[in-house]
Amino acid sequence: MSQSTFLFFLFLLHQHLSAGVTTGAGDDFTFNGFRGANLTLDGTATITSNGLLRLTNNTRQVRGHALHLSQIQFRLPRHNGTVFSFSTTFVFGTIIKDRYIGGNGLAFLISGSDNFSSALGSQFLGLVNPNNNGNSTNHVFAVELDTIFNPDLYDINGNHVGIDVNGVVSNFSVPAGYFSDDTGVFQNLSLIGEQVMQAWVEYDAESMRLNVTLAPVRTAKPRRPLISRSIDLSPVFLDSMFVGFSASSGSYQTAHYVLGWSFKINGTARALDYSLLPSLPRTKSGGRSKFLEVGIPLASAGVVLAIAGVVALVVRRRMKYAELLEDWEKEYGPHRFSYKDLFDATGGFAEENSLGDGGFGRVYRGVLQRTKLDVAVKRVSHQSRQGMKEFIAEIVSLGRLRHRNLVRLLGYCRRKGELLLVYDYMPNGSLDKLLYDRLRPCLDWPTRFKIIKDVASGLLYLHEDWEQMVIHRDIKASNVLLDGEMNGRLGDFGLARLYDHGNDPQTTHIVGTMGYIAPELVRTGRPSAATDVFAFGTFLFEVACGRRAVDWAADIDQLVLEWVLQGWRKGSILETRDAKLGEEFVAEEVDLVLKLGLLCAHPSPAARPSMRRVVEYLEGSSPLPELAATYLSFKTIELQRSKSIEDYMTSYPSSSSVATASSVARAP
Ligand SMILES: *[C@@H]1O[C@H](CO)[C@@H](O)[C@H](O)[C@H]1NC(C)=O
Ligand SMILES: *[C@@H]1O[C@H](CO)[C@@H](O)[C@H](O)[C@H]1NC(C)=O
Ligand SMILES: *[C@@H]1O[C@H](CO)[C@@H](O)[C@H](O)[C@H]1NC(C)=O
Ligand SMILES: *[C@@H]1O[C@H](CO)[C@@H](O)[C@H](O)[C@H]1NC(C)=O
Ligand SMILES: *[C@@H]1O[C@H](CO)[C@@H](O)[C@H](O)[C@H]1NC(C)=O
Ligand SMILES: *[C@@H]1O[C@H](CO)[C@@H](O)[C@H](O)[C@H]1NC(C)=O
Ligand SMILES: *[C@@H]1O[C@H](CO)[C@@H](O)[C@H](O)[C@H]1NC(C)=O
Ligand SMILES: *[C@@H]1O[C@H](CO)[C@@H](O)[C@H](O)[C@H]1NC(C)=O
Ligand SMILES: *[C@@H]1O[C@H](CO)[C@@H](O)[C@H](O)[C@H]1NC(C)=O
Repeated sequence: MSQSTFLFFLFLLHQHLSAGVTTGAGDDFTFNGFRGANLTLDGTATITSNGLLRLTNNTRQVRGHALHLSQIQFRLPRHNGTVFSFSTTFVFGTIIKDRYIGGNGLAFLISGSDNFSSALGSQFLGLVNPNNNGNSTNHVFAVELDTIFNPDLYDINGNHVGIDVNGVVSNFSVPAGYFSDDTGVFQNLSLIGEQVMQAWVEYDAESMRLNVTLAPVRTAKPRRPLISRSIDLSPVFLDSMFVGFSASSGSYQTAHYVLGWSFKINGTARALDYSLLPSLPRTKSGGRSKFLEVGIPLASAGVVLAIAGVVALVVRRRMKYAELLEDWEKEYGPHRFSYKDLFDATGGFAEENSLGDGGFGRVYRGVLQRTKLDVAVKRVSHQSRQGMKEFIAEIVSLGRLRHRNLVRLLGYCRRKGELLLVYDYMPNGSLDKLLYDRLRPCLDWPTRFKIIKDVASGLLYLHEDWEQMVIHRDIKASNVLLDGEMNGRLGDFGLARLYDHGNDPQTTHIVGTMGYIAPELVRTGRPSAATDVFAFGTFLFEVACGRRAVDWAADIDQLVLEWVLQGWRKGSILETRDAKLGEEFVAEEVDLVLKLGLLCAHPSPAARPSMRRVVEYLEGSSPLPELAATYLSFKTIELQRSKSIEDYMTSYPSSSSVATASSVARAP
């Protein structure tokens, strides 16, 4: 053993033995590691034997909180003044199972209550729930480190830092990163990069300025903060508040860790002693990099190294392109892509080719080298092999669907823990972006009406005109893609099925997207043509009103259905249309679309039209029947809103832009 190795081990030993807690009292405390720390923990939060605070435990759909035991005084009691200045810093890290995507995120929080039993995980980060999101009675302030792009919450991307006031629609957010002291240039940081990072949150009472700064651990705090905003926290804070952390894993196996934390009122939080902080558990990839750092400088026998290098290269190359292929797949030959082809097509799944994140995985743009075909490749994380055979059979069967209003599924590839689905590339992207992106010009009414008819025609084909009936199960604007000629095409088949077969009991409930789920689907769990028609109704509202199915940012009428229904009751249904359209619309068509939406989203499945009727109404070949006022009672809507949606929220992850679903059933 060389001297340097010996010193290294001594160093490790020292690190191991000396990790511990240093706490001050009251409003000034420091935890250099959490061994022996007395915190209030709930959910999956725990302190590991080596002193890590672990908030989520590498399991899907969990959440955890850790709070400082006693409340902190943030202003003089019974004195409605500004809150005191405070400063905090913490070192954190995230370990993910899938190499590419990690569950929802971690937040530093300051809260009036230590009871988070009604808060939901997933995109609600364990802070709020759909009913109280944004409500000023929450008295919750948080700095979120969010790793999932959720357009419903106006997220900017899948890797951002946000300031949350009483809810998870961030008051302000920026991509995660820091400004280099040397160059002043912004450097990206990946919050799920298995890299340990440090954050600083500082508030100055006098100027009411909040600064948030991020940096890789062991680098000096960057001079320029990542966020520096003026914000008055006095209405948000009570006199005494709890401080701590919250994290939720959502649909990905993720573990969120805090390694050290300090906090101080009226002053700068104490610097953390890096030598005392515990280390994150090693992962396979982490282990390899450690070997490279430590092992290679120590190796002296050049020959051995050279041979090892060649072997490693060969092994790595094989690992890099390794895939799973079993005998039963032989018959699917033409639909099976090689991983290497997909890897090459997407430039090695390069970041710049990413088209967006979804609840199930990330989508990449690519060009198949041999055929020069433009494709979109979706990477779906999937650990379970159970049901894979049936699922692939279904994928291949769906791959035979050919219709001008359906996105073609070209094939698939399978690797360990991962499934890749290959689709035709749609140059004009998804409809939700055109509807909601404020930077884009308003989508004109004739195009909207045409896309509605396209989607109706695609769905009719799935329901009635193909050899077997296909229930789509996740119709919504973000699953409608636009080809080069702006034809609307229904995208994405099959993923819900995969999760149905899977062995994860948490995701076997209902698959679909909030605001699109028919009431009977919640009761029975059985998707049908009528539940698709219900979702189609909500889709019509989205297109005509330019509002999301559920708008978390709206103060009232979060459900678009409720918004249209109220307009209809008042006799002014046209006023519910997208304000961006101005006067540029055809009144009869908008009226038809909105009323057809109400008919399709009827609480009783028997009252909803079939897709064939829907197409007839849209073509004008049959007149739309009158709506009976009594059917759509507020009671039903209320029920849908409070019951189904929350049941669903607790059982199913984010309603994200590329989450998809479908189901194949034998035609009756
Ligand atoms: C932690 O704090 C609680 C409440 O003050 C106290 O009852 C408990 O004994 C403390 N535990 C330890 C290990 O200090
Ligand atoms: C994580 O916590 C949940 C809930 O406490 C538990 O059911 C699960 O087994 C834990 N998973 C691991 C990997 O420890
Ligand atoms: C503080 O605010 C509360 C609620 O707004 C009010 O009832 C109370 O009178 C105020 N106290 C003072 C000292 O201004
Ligand atoms: C926490 O709040 C819930 C309601 O949101 C309540 O039922 C429960 O009793 C509370 N728990 C404690 C310990 O106060
Ligand atoms: C906010 O919460 C309070 C108390 O729970 C409730 O009375 C109020 O109606 C809520 N406000 C909104 C806009 O939901
Ligand atoms: C952000 O906070 C400021 C100050 O409290 C407030 O004026 C503003 O409306 C908030 N913005 C959003 C988008 O919530
Ligand atoms: C940071 O990431 C964004 C999005 O992935 C990219 O557009 C930008 O060029 C990156 N910036 C740097 C400095 O790497
Ligand atoms: C926040 O950042 C600004 C700009 O760098 C700086 O002037 C100010 O002193 C900082 N405030 C706090 C509370 O750190
Ligand atoms: C913080 O500063 C304010 C204003 O200077 C002072 O009134 C308050 O007592 C201080 N709080 C603590 C906990 O030191």
